[in-house]
Amino acid sequence: MKKFFKVLGIIVGVLAVVIIAFLFYFNASFPKAEPVPNIKVEITPARIARGEYLANNVAGCMDCHSQRDYTKYAGPIIPFTRGQGGERYDGPMAGVPGVIYAYNITPAGIGNWSDGELIRAITTGVTKDGKALFPLMPYINFNHLSQEDLYSIVAYIRSLKPVENKIPERKLDFPMNLIVKTIPLSSYTPASAPGMSDTLAYGKYLITIANCGDCHTPMDKGQPIKSLVFAGGMEFHMPWGTIRTANITPDNETGIGKWTKEQFINRFKSLASDSVQNVPVKPHEFNTIMPWTYYAGMKDEDLGAIYTYLRTVKPVHHEVIKYTVAQ
Ligand code: HEC
Ligand code: HEC
Repeated sequence: MKKFFKVLGIIVGVLAVVIIAFLFYFNASFPKAEPVPNIKVEITPARIARGEYLANNVAGCMDCHSQRDYTKYAGPIIPFTRGQGGERYDGPMAGVPGVIYAYNITPAGIGNWSDGELIRAITTGVTKDGKALFPLMPYINFNHLSQEDLYSIVAYIRSLKPVENKIPERKLDFPMNLIVKTIPLSSYTPASAPGMSDTLAYGKYLITIANCGDCHTPMDKGQPIKSLVFAGGMEFHMPWGTIRTANITPDNETGIGKWTKEQFINRFKSLASDSVQNVPVKPHEFNTIMPWTYYAGMKDEDLGAIYTYLRTVKPVHHEVIKYTVAQ
């Protein structure tokens, strides 16, 4: 018996050493971050304007990094909270194993980051101090941002009014607290955006940086399901009920196959005026997390390009019940 415990003790001891060595190696090797690029973004009025458009109406930076009012339809941004962060994402609501918060990206939050540090975080998911971001922050999509659009977003963020707002530390559950370190991308390759004349390529570019697929393509164990690209059905469990994303493939019965380009653009534009952006919703009435209020500000030709691209994806027959009221 004594011998047995001695052997067991040795095995446990060896295992502990192996595990500690592995964790040590793991923490030292991940995330595999590129060195901070040495970039100084020149701030011009044209860049600030383009960045304002992208951050508020296309790429969703301000959607997530501001406080939202879900007592109103589609949760418009609460005035004067732009960029201050604090939106909380946890478990059932957003499929996060743990709790994360969107950070303060006004100059009061990231004012001491260099442009290179910001660019590395936005496009590869590694922060100033080398921490790996959870990919709800869509850096995997932003890795496709053109250099000019990226610089414009940086110029705009630098121009935000500083708002003091301390954000709590995130808490990821085991094993996601380790897995998260393997997700960041190794580098960003500056590219130019496809020209507007190539509507299809431009539409694909926009739908990528607008993160449409992050909600409209359901996932299994963190990976998009290949047979359901843009076919909807991803679930969000909100206090007022369960919402599922719509099928936006060109399937005639269950998708948007019968929609004309005008109908598509108008579905967004119908929410553009201020009065529509402030429609109160009673608890347990249907409310949506589809960010209609900020996409409504997208230019007609940009929505048109997205429509043109969506006509070319594979039609998938996939019925989705968009809303179930909470019990
Ligand atoms: C879908 C929501 C969402 C969108 C869209 C989004 N972010 Fe984030 N962002 C987050 C979350 C959540 C975190 C924190 C993730 C974590 O803690 O792992 C984050 C982290 C960051 C950080 C790191 C800040 C820090 O202090 O560590 C920066 C910088 C940032 N985002 C900038 C942007 C910019 C710029 C855009 C638009 C191009 C953007 N984000 C779009 C949700 C979002
Ligand atoms: C944060 C998650 C999210 C993102 C990002 C998102 N959607 Fe949605 N979308 C939804 C949800 C949920 C619904 C269903 C509820 C509703 O109709 O409001 C929806 C509905 C739609 C509909 C209505 C379809 C119908 O049958 O009525 C269209 C069209 C659409 N989305 C297109 C897009 C496009 C294009 C993008 C990117 C520019 C996008 N969505 C980004 C969540 C999202």
